[in-house]
Amino acid sequence: MMMRINFKTILLVLIVAVISSIFTSWNNCGSSILIRTAEWKTRRDRLANSELGYQEIDCNINGEYLIGCRREGDEVYIPFSFIHKYFEVYGKLATYDGLERFEWLHSYSKIVRPKSKYDPRGVFMTFENYNVEVRERVKCVSGSDGVPMSTQWESQGYYYPTQIAQFGLSHYSKNLTEPEPHRKIIEDADKVQQAWIVPQGSVMSRNYDVQSNSYVLRFGTPETSTSGISITLDHVLSFVLKLDLIIKDNGSVTVVMQHRERKDSYYLHYTTSNIVLNTLNNHIYYGIGVSNSQWRRITRDLVVDLQKGLSINEKGKKKLSRSKLKIIKIILYGSGKIDNMTLSTSEHMEQFYDAARWFVANQNVTSGGWPNPVRRKVASSMEILEPGWYSAMGQGHAISVLARAYYHSGDERYLQAAVRGLKPFKITSSKGGVAAYFMDKFVWYEEYPTTPSSFILNGFIYSLIGLYDLKCIATGRDADEATELFDNGMISLKNMLTLFDTGSGTTYDLRHYTLKSAPNLARWDYHSTHINQLLLLNTIDTDQIFMITAERWIGYMNGKRAAHN
Ligand SMILES: *[C@@H]1O[C@H](CO)[C@@H](O)[C@H](O)[C@H]1NC(C)=O
Ligand SMILES: *[C@@H]1O[C@H](CO)[C@@H](O)[C@H](O)[C@H]1NC(C)=O
Ligand SMILES: *[C@@H]1O[C@H](CO)[C@@H](O)[C@H](O)[C@H]1NC(C)=O
Ligand SMILES: *[C@@H]1O[C@H](CO)[C@@H](O)[C@H](O)[C@H]1NC(C)=O
Repeated sequence: MMMRINFKTILLVLIVAVISSIFTSWNNCGSSILIRTAEWKTRRDRLANSELGYQEIDCNINGEYLIGCRREGDEVYIPFSFIHKYFEVYGKLATYDGLERFEWLHSYSKIVRPKSKYDPRGVFMTFENYNVEVRERVKCVSGSDGVPMSTQWESQGYYYPTQIAQFGLSHYSKNLTEPEPHRKIIEDADKVQQAWIVPQGSVMSRNYDVQSNSYVLRFGTPETSTSGISITLDHVLSFVLKLDLIIKDNGSVTVVMQHRERKDSYYLHYTTSNIVLNTLNNHIYYGIGVSNSQWRRITRDLVVDLQKGLSINEKGKKKLSRSKLKIIKIILYGSGKIDNMTLSTSEHMEQFYDAARWFVANQNVTSGGWPNPVRRKVASSMEILEPGWYSAMGQGHAISVLARAYYHSGDERYLQAAVRGLKPFKITSSKGGVAAYFMDKFVWYEEYPTTPSSFILNGFIYSLIGLYDLKCIATGRDADEATELFDNGMISLKNMLTLFDTGSGTTYDLRHYTLKSAPNLARWDYHSTHINQLLLLNTIDTDQIFMITAERWIGYMNGKRAAHN
């Protein structure tokens, strides 16, 4: 999680030591040619201020413009709002122990040091802190697959494998780190039964179902029914709905939520259709796919579904918070069967398996790739990636999901998909794979398989972590294949790592080498991702380079710089 600071609120003027004699000489020769960029106080104001112990003084910035500063004896004080912009440092006022202080931060990111050796069966990086589905660039969690749809590069929404994997890995990691959820069974047609309201003309019964070997609730409402079969609830706090269902044509499960103070009602309709998301006033529609006669389980975070539905028409409006909502009704329309309807505070493993199943169902089994269905221009002088490209980061992340799903479930289909996912690592970018070579020597797995190559650091390391996960969880030939790709990647990384070092931060990629352009400097959250990745690699590889480099890069976050000549 990142700390962001609003600098506009800062009024404080911070001390910066500047030798005033140098300052005076600048002023003497430069003032006539200077462009004034701010409003200045009158001479009379300056005199009045001198009685307060300081004087207003112009500060000439590189001979280009002036800003207002203050002088106190030999010391000159520069406004922090200027320093913030000029040096990209951050600061805020903070009061604790009864004292107000100004806190200066060179970087806004945090480093999380690993507590133990990285475990491919455990938490992925720091992803227990990720909330992928609530991000602005996620359109919604798809009703038919239970995975996020991105709007990052195309506004109508598309499946972005990297994002789906991060969704899966975050839920897997949360399952391992969060307290046990509260779960309440609403209806299981057996031990827990509700007094459903069945209007005239509709039918409802509880029967033994051979296919699922369990008692289930059967229902039917006429096509014209407006009221459906319903239960009234007064349910707060646990908003993750899970149920097993079969619904016939034009059926739906509708959940009515209410704002606890304003009493506005919101209708979440999960309908048998292929629409992604539609909103009409307070009615929000998610298609859960067309019906068939197979039981399926759906898991929905109702608050996320509500927020995404409302944000379609109310961009930028404050989101309804979980604590302000309650569930007041569930309504069944059409005909079908339901079972095991529960409301929980979370269902992380269900959501993790939604992601894992998506990767099994949406892989190109010939190439082993998970295609990215959007055009992507990484840099203006790189060739455009046409829809269908593969990403080493997407492949690696998918493998991390599938390796965990295989470990957790023992289901071979996850392992097979993960092993197929290795194929694009063996094919160069120019031939539809993800491998690039630096100076024809070191293999690099490309987050974006661009021409010319981009050599993005964080995406490469994520792909290595995926390979490591599979090498640890698979056995025999599968493990050997992953090991070879991992080992070759690690050789490249150890040889090339310091190419990303700028002496005060890191670069995101090596476009300054391949495009002969200015370096693409990593902003602090990517810089800290680089460090977190090195600290992870340091727990699985004994080479000193990871720790030594990570410590130096941590220093950059605290304002340290490499020595100059
Ligand atoms: C984690 O998943 C297990 C099932 O694998 C479940 O029993 C447990 O309640 C889950 N815990 C959390 C915190 O999600
Ligand atoms: C409901 O849950 C029970 C217990 O896990 C399971 O045996 C049954 O098959 C489930 N029902 C359906 C329709 O999947
Ligand atoms: C579903 O609804 C549509 C439109 O309301 C209607 O045209 C269609 O006949 C319905 N299908 C069934 C199987 O009832
Ligand atoms: C799957 O990959 C193969 C080999 O790269 C390719 O020829 C084929 O068009 C791909 N299939 C789809 C559906 O994209």
